[in-house]
Amino acid sequence: MCGIVGYAGPRPSSPSSRPVDVVLAGLARLEYRGYDSAGVAVLDGDAVRIDKRAGKLANLREEVAGHEESSSQVAIGHTRWATHGAPTDANAHPHRGGKHGELALVHNGIIENFAPLKAELVAEGYEFDSETDSEVAAHLVAREMTRLADEAGAEEGAAGADLTEAMRRVVSRLEGAFTLLAVDAAAPDRVVAARRNSPLVVGLGEGENFLGSDVAAFIDATKEALEVGQDQIVTVTPDDVAIIGFDGAPVTDAKRYTIEWDTTAAQKGGYPSFMAKEIHEQASAVADTLRGRMENGRLHLDEMKIDPALLRSIDKIVVVACGTAANAGSVVKYAIEHWCRIPVEVELAHEFRYRDPVVTEKTLVIAISQSGETMDTLMAVRHAKEQGAKVVAICNTRGSTIPRESDAALYLNVGPEIAVASTKAYLGQIGACYLLGLYLAQERGNFFPEEIAEIMHDLEGLPDKVQAVLDNAAQVEQLAHDMADATSVLFLGRHVGYPTAMEGALKLKEIAYIHAEGFAAGELKHGPIALVDEGQPVFIIVPSPRGRDSLHSKVVSNIQEIRARGARTMVIAEEGDTDVEPYADVVIRVPATRTLFAPLLTIIPLQIFACELATAKGLDVDQPRNLAKSVTVE
Ligand code: AGP
Repeated sequence: MCGIVGYAGPRPSSPSSRPVDVVLAGLARLEYRGYDSAGVAVLDGDAVRIDKRAGKLANLREEVAGHEESSSQVAIGHTRWATHGAPTDANAHPHRGGKHGELALVHNGIIENFAPLKAELVAEGYEFDSETDSEVAAHLVAREMTRLADEAGAEEGAAGADLTEAMRRVVSRLEGAFTLLAVDAAAPDRVVAARRNSPLVVGLGEGENFLGSDVAAFIDATKEALEVGQDQIVTVTPDDVAIIGFDGAPVTDAKRYTIEWDTTAAQKGGYPSFMAKEIHEQASAVADTLRGRMENGRLHLDEMKIDPALLRSIDKIVVVACGTAANAGSVVKYAIEHWCRIPVEVELAHEFRYRDPVVTEKTLVIAISQSGETMDTLMAVRHAKEQGAKVVAICNTRGSTIPRESDAALYLNVGPEIAVASTKAYLGQIGACYLLGLYLAQERGNFFPEEIAEIMHDLEGLPDKVQAVLDNAAQVEQLAHDMADATSVLFLGRHVGYPTAMEGALKLKEIAYIHAEGFAAGELKHGPIALVDEGQPVFIIVPSPRGRDSLHSKVVSNIQEIRARGARTMVIAEEGDTDVEPYADVVIRVPATRTLFAPLLTIIPLQIFACELATAKGLDVDQPRNLAKSVTVE
């Protein structure tokens, strides 16, 4: 949820590249993770200077710009998505620790046992400035610094107090999820971080090192990164990175990797918003997801490290995911069941874990997550593994926790997705799951190789069709501007059109703050049709007339039923489908494709509609209220 940046390096000289500026630049690229307040801390002589402000990062920037130089080699920063305490200046991070405020700490996650810890500290005379759980960790680490100094016979806060050891002593007392970063006046050359169930990566520079919630924090400075494992503590100085486990044992096998993302991916590139840019990148995004998979007439997924014999033995697939990723899972259920003849259940990850699901060694769990850090999905993965299931992660972010903890990972390769509303990752998730479904069908012998090749051929033709829908954006953009005053929009679909309706409604809710509902069209007469009144806007996703005739004609009947009750019907239909025309107020055309592939096309007008409508309302499209890109708390 929150974004965290740490820096240790040699940049005190030039005014535009002070450590605090490096951290502010990193925070700007992480702001999509949380944006209700922001703060930074630097060392100022033998004191710690903290600046923090409620609201967007811009407020903090103004504050910091006027500051004098400091000789600090280190800085930490935070952009917050509030959990404990309102988004105020006081609750913003960093928090001071210690009776003299000599330490600063930032936190992502939730410390579940903060109340008894706080009571203990209050009893010892520690004073709290905020309502957060995080401030407890700041005081606990500072208290350990004091104790260590005492043990070393040094004065309080003087050399001899080891910030790494102080952090190590504290983490064993914390329950919940956390990434913590701390700086202390007694250890002026280092930032110490710890992680449990919350993301953290190290950026390796030349004479400078970085810490971040994800690689966007330092991508302009270095492409070399180091993974920090679960329950590990990392100490960075300008020249060194040292990792230990919570048990104190050195970690010598941390995985180093090179970041493949281009820095331009983290810029808007002339578009008014990241969301608009990411929508318009979708043709190449789908192509990148599908690229290089066919070789000598066979589908190859090199990342699939699960024994094909085991894949042949599975008798059930469970997809776990949240939000848009769950809608992607609902789309591919139709494809995988059709191709592989295996039952596929799709379950919201947060519901899966708590209902004692039937999962065995013959269950394959597919965990879909753009960020790879969604806590609900991560917990579902762990639960499934405990039951003996094999887990394949469908993920966009390399080095993130979910793929690392899964048995195999298939990456989307769509590049970083910055806008909170997921668009290109959704298409990438569907594309990657199609690959997985076809691979299973191949390994289980459901299809002959030439049948797989034929389906792959059609799939590889999708990017051009995606582009054709994007080239037609103007019609939907105009529609969105005309409907900027709408207060409620309904979405109907059947078969693979049903999850598309759900996703279209989710997009409109999250960025345009309009009441929107997605329904299975067949469910209409069982209740939702009561919502339809004169002028009620309804989008209907119509299946291809070339598919099962009954499916198409039933949806056409549904359009007539709602139109008869006054609905304004906006119909997304295949080119050449004239049956819908008499009943549609607006027809939005998409190219013909296989029924199972249509969701890669029919969602695009709905994404554009939400993006344009939010823009027309003057809303912040990329950073909608109350949301964050990466939901790292349960
Ligand atoms: C998408 O528009 C949403 N912001 C959200 O539903 C998101 O898809 C969900 O939180 C899951 O995220 P993940 O893919 O990173 O796991």
